[in-house]
Amino acid sequence: MVTRSESMRESGTTRGESVDCRGSTVDGEWVVLRDGSSVSLGSLAAGDEAAIASWFAGLGTETRYARFFSPLKALDRRIQVELARVDHVDHEAIAARTRDGATVGIARYIRLGHSRTAEVAVAIVDDWTGLGIATMLLERVAARALAVGIEQLVAACLATNYAVIRLFSRMGEMTVGPSIAGTAEVRIDLTRPPLARRPLASAAPSTID
Ligand SMILES: CC(C)(COP(=O)(O)OP(=O)(O)OC[C@H]1O[C@@H](n2cnc3c(N)ncnc32)[C@H](O)[C@@H]1OP(=O)(O)O)[C@@H](O)C(=O)NCCC(=O)NCCS
Repeated sequence: MVTRSESMRESGTTRGESVDCRGSTVDGEWVVLRDGSSVSLGSLAAGDEAAIASWFAGLGTETRYARFFSPLKALDRRIQVELARVDHVDHEAIAARTRDGATVGIARYIRLGHSRTAEVAVAIVDDWTGLGIATMLLERVAARALAVGIEQLVAACLATNYAVIRLFSRMGEMTVGPSIAGTAEVRIDLTRPPLARRPLASAAPSTID
């Protein structure tokens, strides 16, 4: 399934306005993972369809279903082009790459129309999960989104995808909508800290006189 924003981009409804940091990218940065291996995290280059193909090839059936809501066997050429069409302002994708050049994870946001809201998505190649890659990619996606005026992220995910809901809940104040046909919409306010990190006194008004 192509996401709402992915199809909006295709129909050309996403803006191309001027923003101070237009076109700047997240530089590649080597990070050490929980198992001692390392990957480089940085913006996907515009048009790098080879990276998209490398990433997609490593996603197992369940992972593909969780990301695209469909057990895709191959990535449609149209979607591949769309996923590589980053401009680093309205559409940013941050990739994790190994030393031999494989792309093992991608997190992205795509701005919805002219708004301060963007759709967020992430998927990590199966052999590389559990090492902290999604956490690090999403941190960078959130920082980049805030830098270009995006304050809210939304995501559609399987209602039972607790792993990703937990990850999103660490990015900012999160609400989860009702489950409809097995999927739920998650909203993350990047301008407000995650509820779990807020001091108790500010989490709820006191009822003690
Ligand atoms: C969910 C997903 C993004 C996690 O990526 P990851 O790189 O393994 O995540 P991290 O290593 O940063 O782990 C983050 C936390 O999630 C937990 N986690 C990761 N995978 C998990 C799983 N399958 N089940 C339960 N918890 C899981 C980790 O234990 C970790 O918790 P901790 O920080 O308390 O130790 C990855 O499994 C994936 O690509 N899933 C399919 C795609 C998807 O669901 N996309 C969402 C639609 S937008």
